[in-house]
Amino acid sequence: MINIEKKSVLFVCLGNICRSPTAHGVFQRLLEESEIADSVAVDSAGTAAWHIGKSPDSRSVAMAKTKGYELSHLRARQVSEADFYDFDYILAMDDSNFSDLLSIQPSSSGADLRMFLSFAPNQPLTEVPDPYYNGDESFREVVALVESACHGLLDHLRSELAEG
Ligand code: 4NP
Repeated sequence: MINIEKKSVLFVCLGNICRSPTAHGVFQRLLEESEIADSVAVDSAGTAAWHIGKSPDSRSVAMAKTKGYELSHLRARQVSEADFYDFDYILAMDDSNFSDLLSIQPSSSGADLRMFLSFAPNQPLTEVPDPYYNGDESFREVVALVESACHGLLDHLRSELAEG
């Protein structure tokens, strides 16, 4: 039987130029290497409007590239109420993003709002730390945390799609 069920995932941080585009690019590539690529749609957005239309931060693009992930084609956008109807999963990078999202979530939407790192196995951290005002090590940590949670998310979606 052909599985036509689709799932959709939106990664959300503050500016949509560091953490969420990293998650977007990493997860897109993991998906493309998986058997569920045609069943999952991916996007990213920021709670703030500051960087709308901009490319990801050059430090994020460079750090992702060291692990073979391409981010340079992505453009920042702001999250909106409509996203809660368009996406099955809305995944927040930190507690502040989560509470901002909770405050705009329409009560009638079916979206599942969660912390992104809840998908990372054996991870004591619950937030992906904001690297914007920090150095290379912070950007490296973002990629490592994102990779771990993306693997967990892929497993989760694979099980959901298999269950139908
Ligand atoms: P992001 O990081 O939320 O991971 O994209 C930031 C990007 C920009 C700013 C803060 C955090 N900013 O203050 O402009």
